[in-house]
Amino acid sequence: MAEPRLYLSPPHMSGREEEYVAEAFRSNWIAPLGPMVDAFEREVCDYIGGGYATALMSGTAALHLALLLLGVKPGDEVLCATLTFSASANAIMYTGAVPAFIDCERKTWTIDPDLLEVELSACAKRGRKPRAVMAVDLYGQCADYRRIEDICRRYEVPMIEDAAEALGATCSGKKAGCFGQMAVFSFNGNKIITTSGGGMLVSSDGELIRKARFLASQARDPAPHYEHTTIGYNYRMSNILAAVGRGQLKVLNERVAARRQNFELYRKALGGLPGVGFMPEAAYGRSNRWLTCITVEPEEFGASREDIRLALEEENIEARPVWKPMHLQPVFAMCRKRGGDTAAEIFANGLCLPSGSNLREEDINRVYAIVRGCQYVKA
Ligand SMILES: Cc1ncc(COP(=O)(O)O)c(C=O)c1O
Repeated sequence: MAEPRLYLSPPHMSGREEEYVAEAFRSNWIAPLGPMVDAFEREVCDYIGGGYATALMSGTAALHLALLLLGVKPGDEVLCATLTFSASANAIMYTGAVPAFIDCERKTWTIDPDLLEVELSACAKRGRKPRAVMAVDLYGQCADYRRIEDICRRYEVPMIEDAAEALGATCSGKKAGCFGQMAVFSFNGNKIITTSGGGMLVSSDGELIRKARFLASQARDPAPHYEHTTIGYNYRMSNILAAVGRGQLKVLNERVAARRQNFELYRKALGGLPGVGFMPEAAYGRSNRWLTCITVEPEEFGASREDIRLALEEENIEARPVWKPMHLQPVFAMCRKRGGDTAAEIFANGLCLPSGSNLREEDINRVYAIVRGCQYVKA
């Protein structure tokens, strides 16, 4: 019998979700918003150590609102990590602003603080300050906020933390989601915990979150009829999906441990192969290891990351190239960039392996055997 498909990062329910969903049904809170949403927001804040939150339909919606709340508008520029998923940059485009992309550093794969500073300094000299900076916590690893926050403060540019992939990670002992003016989580189906689709905007500034709620629920002014002085959005999370999120949040720490364990098992299995490297973990924090990412030097290994991906696919195993950097995407060809070669190199050689928290050791062994079998086949 054929082996079941191994997915990159499938949902992993705890069993608690059904109880919360049943509670929502019993109380007839099917409509958007409701007590599950309030509780989910509170519980995420408790988890990350305080602040305020609003649950939304997606991480992308949360990024869009964060940018609007910082006053980003047509004609502005927003500095953004180039090594990310397109949603980070798309949200900038929704506001009418344009992104300018910053390369990542080799030792963390996240936005390079030195290049960020060089770019901000060049912008200051030109007299054209970017409206915001968007840092991205890549594959569950926080960017280097010890430096980024300081740099942004000195240049007086607000920062958004795109922590879509990083719930449960830390930087300097603080949880992902605690950095910048606002941070964003995603609960998309492939994330470390999921509501099937959803996101959250968090901030230590309650006023920003109050405004986000207003914009996310059609910007309805206080009046008995529907009165509007601002363009609004329909971005709030439904009570049913928040119920799923509450059940998931209960097991978040276990999910982080399982993903970190995947990484360790992969490292043990594949780490001795020539030309195979791993996404480094930054000394300043702890990654949630959302996805285990390897790099493959074709000359040394004797096959490319694409050879490996195709061999895995042939055995019904899903693997995916590392994000293609935004400065190489045709849709962002018109945007400025600072550096880019490091991200391009990581893309050329980087591969994300199956990383679900429900992955078994024998699955990892299966992946290992196939990767091993690719060695030197193309040499
Ligand atoms: C880095 C990053 N930013 C933003 C998003 C967007 O989140 P969502 O899919 O919930 O809109 C994702 C993932 O989907 C992501 O990986």
